[in-house]
This record gives sequence, C-alpha cells and structure tokens, in this order.
Amino acid sequence: MTIQTKSPIGLDGVAAAETALSLVDGDKGALTVAGQPVGALAASSTFEDVAARLLSLATGTAYDAAEVAASLGKARVHAFERLPVLLPLFDGLRPIEAFRAAVAAMAPAAGLAPENVLIGAMPVLAAAIVRRQSGETPLPPDPALGHAADTLRMLRGEMPSQKEARALEIYLVTVSDHGMNASTFAGRVVASTQADLFMAVTAAYCALTGPLHGGAPEPVLEMLDAIQSEDRIAAWIDAALARGDRLMGFGHRIYRGRDPRADVLKAAISGLGTADMGLAGKVEAYARQALAKAKPDRVLDTNVEFYTAILLDGLGIPRQAFTPIFATGRVAGWVAHALEQQRKGRLLRPSAVYTGV
Ligand code: ACO
Repeated sequence: MTIQTKSPIGLDGVAAAETALSLVDGDKGALTVAGQPVGALAASSTFEDVAARLLSLATGTAYDAAEVAASLGKARVHAFERLPVLLPLFDGLRPIEAFRAAVAAMAPAAGLAPENVLIGAMPVLAAAIVRRQSGETPLPPDPALGHAADTLRMLRGEMPSQKEARALEIYLVTVSDHGMNASTFAGRVVASTQADLFMAVTAAYCALTGPLHGGAPEPVLEMLDAIQSEDRIAAWIDAALARGDRLMGFGHRIYRGRDPRADVLKAAISGLGTADMGLAGKVEAYARQALAKAKPDRVLDTNVEFYTAILLDGLGIPRQAFTPIFATGRVAGWVAHALEQQRKGRLLRPSAVYTGV
C-alpha cells in the first residue's frame, strides 16, 4: 500500500509493530478486524465475541466468548464497588478528565484478568461520571445483561430496547480496533516497556481525547448546532474553511476515500429509526463538496466520528460521554494490542530530528 505523506515526522507509513488484530487498507477503503471485514463483523458479532477473538489473536490462547461475557459482568460489578471512594475525587473535573482519572485508578483485582477488569470498568465509569454531573446517582450494573445493553442502561437509567442495544453494540464492535491509530500506538509504546495493562490503557485513553483522534464527535454536534438550519450550511462551512478551520468528522490519515466504518454506522442509524439525519445528511453532502474544492489534492471524506456523533446522540447518550464511550469499544483493541506487544514486540524507541544548535 502506498501512502502519500507530506512529512515523515507524523510517522506516516512507518510500521511500528506486527499485528494480527486488524488491517486498515487506506487505498481500498477497507478495514479488517479480528480476521473479518468490519461490516460483516458488526452484522454478526456481539461485543463480547469480538473481545474474545481479539484477545485470542493477541495471546495465542483461546478465549471463550461466553466466559469473557461472564467475566465482563463481574468486572462491571467490581468497578461499581469502587465508585463511592473514587467519584467524589473527580468533582469539578470535566467528564473527559474525570474519566481519565478513573481509568488511571483501576488496578488488578483478585479473580479477574487485568484485560477483563479494564474492559468491564469502562462503561461503569463513563455512566457514573455523567450521571453524577447531572446530579443523578450511578445505576448498578446488571451482570446478566450483554455489555452493550448494560452500558446503555447504566448511561440512561432505563432499560434500552433491543434495537437500541443492538445499535450501540454495532458501534462498539465497529470501533473495537483500528490498526496503529494514535491511542493504540500510545498504549503499545507503554506496553513495550513491559509496563502493565493498566498503565498502557491509561496512556491510550489520554491519546484518544484529542479532537484529531477520538475527541471529534462532540465538536461534530457543536458544528451542527452552530449551523442550525439548512439555509445556513453553505455560509457556515465556507467561512470555516476560509478561516483554515478543520471540519470535524472529515478526513483521515490513512483512508484516501471513505472510512468504511462511516457506512456501518450510517446503516445502524437507519436501523434505529429515531436519529434525525435531516440536517446532518445535508451538512455532510455540502462539506464533502466544499472540502474537495478547498483541498483538491487531498481526498477528505466523511470519517467514523461524523456518524458516531449522530448515532450516540440518537441513542440519547449525553455528548460529554462520547469519548468515554468510544473508549468503551476501543479498549478491546487496546488491551489486545498491549498483550500482543508484551508477547512479541520490542521496546518502541524512535529517534528525533535534532533542530537545536
Ligand atoms: N477539514 C479541513 N481541512 C482538512 C481536514 C478537515 N477535516 N483534514 C485535513 N485537512 C487539510 C489540512 O489542513 C491540510 O491542509 P494543508 O495541506 O493546506 O495544510 C491537508 O488537509 C492535509 O492534512 P494533514 O494534516 O496531512 O492530515 P492528517 O493526516 O494529519 O490528518 C486528521 C488526519 C487529523 C483526521 C484530519 O483529517 C483532521 O483533523 N480531521 C478533523 C478531525 C477529525 O475528524 N478527527 C477524527 C479522526 S477519525 C479517528 O481518529 C477515530
């Protein structure tokens, strides 16, 4: 695969590891996760299936999806038990910051593998943090539910419909892994020092929060809010591009065309039948045209974050929870990459171009 790069400083096209977990083919606009094209995987798998497959590939030891599901249920309960001590420490922090502190506070637990502690904790921490922000008490997990359904139940305070739980599950599967993205790379760097999974996942989450990576969906909704109505789309987007702003939810380092995850999520939104695609669809269409005109040398198409914003908003998830919910899916990839790195990788230690005197 050839990757056009304007500078090697962003490590474009540099292989930093060998992985069996996922393949991002930017030229073909294709993504393979755990051996399957992402669309087929999302259509046929639960989140627990995918977590088990990624962990099996990473470690060379078979993980059983039913056992992973049972362990994640226990791990959600374990994380919930830690909340009374943890939550008051985060008062005054923004949810994205409180979540960072909460992830950093996770630690090995008796009877649970570290990877399950981490995967299980994410939705419990996310839901508790956003509920506390709005003065509500956290809802205890139900270990008998699937991970996606319980995530949505804890976030919203009521049992989701099957359709809603399935839509969130498709999202969690779709974002579960994505090659050597910035957060996965950050996690692998930490794991390459033989630091443990808790250290690696904390680093990975920190990298996810930036708007050039996983922090984009909230700004996507802010853009839609600012545009307000169809008659304002052209003027708003033209002005943003003239100022040199980046349109959130468009462009990608690897894909030279459409991000295949965007279409998987778009289909999940249609399946839900509740999310309002009216203004969003028109903004997307205009933005693609405007970007093609503004940057004719670079294909800037819709990425996963645009439809993430519409899907999570359509599911009634508060926008401050978007990045923690991204982490709830991506953590499956993070722990698998960290385990794969510890098992097979070398210390990641690049060099820098010295510009001093
Ligand atoms: N809007 C406007 N212009 C853009 C956009 C955009 N969304 N994306 C890239 N460009 C422009 C850049 O300004 C640059 O222009 P220049 O050559 O005139 O300076 C040109 O396209 C090339 O950009 P690069 O910086 O080389 O692109 P890079 O590969 O570093 O960026 C990125 C990829 C960060 C995703 C970028 O497209 C972007 O900032 N998008 C908006 C934020 C976003 O949607 N983030 C989520 C990404 S998906 C994910 O991580 C899960």
